[in-house]
Amino acid sequence: MENKKRMLTGLQPTGVITLGNYVGAIKQMVEYQEKYDSYIFIADMHAITMPIEPKKLKENIRSLVALYVACGIDPNKNKIFIQSENEYHANVSWMLECNTYFGELSRMTQFKEKSKKNANFSCGLFTYPVLMAADILIYDTDLVPVGIDQKQHVEIARDIADRFNKKYGETFVLPEPLISEQATKIMDLQDPTKKMSKSSENPKGIIRILDDAEVIRKNIMSATTDSLAQIKFDKENQPGISNLINIYSAVTDLSIKEIENKFANSQYGEFKKEVADKVIIKLSEIKERYYELISSKELDKILDEGRDATRKIAKIKYEKMKEKIGLIR
Ligand code: AMP
Ligand code: TRP
Repeated sequence: MENKKRMLTGLQPTGVITLGNYVGAIKQMVEYQEKYDSYIFIADMHAITMPIEPKKLKENIRSLVALYVACGIDPNKNKIFIQSENEYHANVSWMLECNTYFGELSRMTQFKEKSKKNANFSCGLFTYPVLMAADILIYDTDLVPVGIDQKQHVEIARDIADRFNKKYGETFVLPEPLISEQATKIMDLQDPTKKMSKSSENPKGIIRILDDAEVIRKNIMSATTDSLAQIKFDKENQPGISNLINIYSAVTDLSIKEIENKFANSQYGEFKKEVADKVIIKLSEIKERYYELISSKELDKILDEGRDATRKIAKIKYEKMKEKIGLIR
């Protein structure tokens, strides 16, 4: 444990995750847990930076934890916890906010985009990256697995840490983003030039982890393809087929070459049916475990242990920061 690098990441509980999230994020975490001292949490306080129904939020939080575990995130290899159950995150965030410039937060791409969508955006949307910096810095995190859209936020966390260290003396480890080069991007089934996203307007283009088998089959069978009549991985000319090959590969662990060979003489219809079968098998394993967990005491035990363990660690950093800043009697 001692010499393992520490890894931390969070997902916002804003909706049911898709096959894209599973392949692009959760599957990587399942690999990382073997290599790193891993922390995985539900960023529920980040979720309230945009409007969200309280009832929905509550449901999503528990559901996301159950999904993590059902997808293979092992509670014995990870600290799994809910951000809002660890009060040090918000406390540390305030101390960091007072060491963050208004100007640097104004330059965040995500803030610029999201604030355009709602004229009455909250201050929380603006300071969101500082809370994220707190999440990362409290635990002396070395590596932060994120999608490319979050890279800027890990970089600002690093800048804030460096500034704090210079001003008050060595306090934080400087974190680095961990952006997986191999992580496959799963595309929308209807428009394979667009990323499959849980916020997509067209439900036919996406597969949610908890979708019914019939929905999954229908969506895959009606996925956009082409008229070249060959199962070949060629993103440029056959983006739809290439996406289905990637999906097949992700749920069977066969390589692209093996899949091309296996289906060398197949029609698109047969291939799609096979893809649907394999996705349904994979997701039904996950779903089975999910429904076992969702209302179980086991899930609460995992969360209680994660909360207690991370509060203990966070308290040390919090006290240290207070002392350095001069917040003492
Ligand atoms: P989001 O759902 O956009 O908040 O993304 C959460 C995580 O899932 C990020 O690490 C993304 O990179 C990853 N992710 C989301 N959609 C996809 C996709 N279609 N293919 C691969 N990875 C994805
Ligand atoms: N902002 C991240 C997202 O929307 C979620 C997140 C919050 C996070 N705090 C974090 C990710 C700390 C990594 C580390 O995806």
